Amino acid sequence: MGPLSPALSLALGLLAAAASPAGADECPSPAWIPFGSHCYAFLQEALKKMESIDDARDICKGNASGADIISINNEEENAFILETFKNNWQGPDYVSLGMYFDSDNNTFQWYDKSQVKFTNWIEEEANQELLNTCVSMQTKSGIWKKMSCEDLPLTGILCKKASAYEKEYLPDHTTLTSTLVITFTVVVTIAAALLWFLYKRNISRSSRALCTMHPSTAQVPYSDETVLVDAEENEYIA
Ligand SMILES: *[C@@H]1O[C@H](CO)[C@@H](O)[C@H](O)[C@H]1NC(C)=O
Ligand SMILES: *[C@@H]1O[C@H](CO)[C@@H](O)[C@H](O)[C@H]1NC(C)=O
Repeated sequence: MGPLSPALSLALGLLAAAASPAGADECPSPAWIPFGSHCYAFLQEALKKMESIDDARDICKGNASGADIISINNEEENAFILETFKNNWQGPDYVSLGMYFDSDNNTFQWYDKSQVKFTNWIEEEANQELLNTCVSMQTKSGIWKKMSCEDLPLTGILCKKASAYEKEYLPDHTTLTSTLVITFTVVVTIAAALLWFLYKRNISRSSRALCTMHPSTAQVPYSDETVLVDAEENEYIA
């Protein structure tokens, strides 16, 4: 089963890589803290004055390529941010999240284009005016609060980026899925080819066993020797 093992170990390697968490060495600098397949940094730009969420995004992007203002995609990530504010980042009471209200389809969206699969809203009255609404997180509770984009806290900015490994080899789940599909197809193709080869070999073996013709008496219609002799004869005649 020699030819199968490289494909199999590739598939296993990809699965292991997908499951393994990001290490510190996969983050851009010590300012970034790894969690899951991403790195997080709370950048406090004393000199640069941030005036809008666009400035904040530029600061994330400027610190590390592929970074953007934070998105929070599940409860574990929310808990990690909460913990890290307690233990590592001396931050303000509120921090901006990279979420905006999209008035085209009346939904909240993440700036980094990840799907909104998790929210942690504080209980509020409905029927709020949502136009020009931004979102912040209370750093002591992890609860999210809608607020006017003008009031957004911009003394520090929370950035997130895919870890180096994730970025290089597994940009997103679509790529992981197609990699697995391709690997599976390759494995199946190689297995089929191998089976076909073994099948054919068995057929030719058994037919050779049945065949009574001796290989030595088989006629070679036009060997190299004949060509050489022909050529010599032609030269002699000329
Ligand atoms: C990113 O931010 C950290 C912390 O503020 C800083 O030490 C580092 O120099 C910055 N890197 C770049 C490339 O801006
Ligand atoms: C809402 O619109 C934005 C672009 O305007 C699009 O990216 C997003 O997928 C839409 N969301 C839904 C749920 O339709």
